[in-house]
Amino acid sequence: MSQRLTGKVVLVTGAAQGIGFECARMAAAEGASVVLGDIQKERGEKAAAKIRAEGNQAIFQPADLTDEAHCSALVEAAIKNFGKLNGLVNNAGWFPRARLEETTTELWEKVMQVNLRSAFYITKFAVPYLRAARGGSIVNMGSINGIQGLPNLVAYAAAKGGLLSMTRTLAGALAPDRIRVNYIIPGWIATEGELTIQKGEGRTAQDLQNAGKRLPFGRMQTVQDAAYAAVFLLSDESAQVTAAVLNVDAGGSMLPIQNDMYPG
Ligand SMILES: NC(=O)c1ccc[n+]([C@@H]2O[C@H](COP(=O)([O-])OP(=O)(O)OC[C@H]3O[C@@H](n4cnc5c(N)ncnc54)[C@H](O)[C@@H]3O)[C@@H](O)[C@H]2O)c1
Repeated sequence: MSQRLTGKVVLVTGAAQGIGFECARMAAAEGASVVLGDIQKERGEKAAAKIRAEGNQAIFQPADLTDEAHCSALVEAAIKNFGKLNGLVNNAGWFPRARLEETTTELWEKVMQVNLRSAFYITKFAVPYLRAARGGSIVNMGSINGIQGLPNLVAYAAAKGGLLSMTRTLAGALAPDRIRVNYIIPGWIATEGELTIQKGEGRTAQDLQNAGKRLPFGRMQTVQDAAYAAVFLLSDESAQVTAAVLNVDAGGSMLPIQNDMYPG
């Protein structure tokens, strides 16, 4: 790998596994000192240790991002350990399937807290440090559902739609501080989170790979596909990119075949 993030400190939420872990791993491999935040303590510690074993800089801070105080402590952990903050990946997410009639108040609230409010808190606490660093990059891990929803992801689609709106609003608000804010659409990836949900609906990992063959480029996306996009948006190569929606979905969200592509 090149060293496109040398000298930068990057915080990634939901980094114990899946897309978040790969974003942290790849950012560290590109020279960043990374801070991993996640509710899963043991897994998060192991994730950071794995990055360190590759010869790169990483620490883990346990954090339940539904709790404002934990979000503040996570940002402070970056400052305490590395002295500054240059980049942020708001990646933590939870995507339980639920149609309108199945969406209880509790489910709605939790989906909003994990997918949207956590990004608001972390961003709010991070921005003063990004300002102090004379600019920075905020990457919000969005979803196809933030643009066009699926019937069984009512609350999640609303949260990811909110995240898109917050991305655009803050891109404008923070431009004078040279803080860029962008949104990635990571297509469809067989992460632990996605596999758990699919298994709950009676589908196997093989079913998922078979469904992936119907996607525009004949396969599901990977955590690496999403992380490459995150590293680009965190790097100075994207210095003129803000308020952007970066689709890493093989065009799936733009093409007419999308509607019957996803199970559920
Ligand atoms: N996998 C996909 O196909 C896909 C598609 C589109 C968007 N996304 C988005 O990408 C992001 C990552 O998804 P993934 O597939 O890697 O999921 P995942 O479930 O494998 O990982 C999500 C991580 O977030 C953490 N997390 C959940 N709730 C938390 C909380 N309250 N506090 C702290 N951490 C918490 C989990 O512990 C986990 O490590 C999510 O925002 C998701 O919505 C995923």
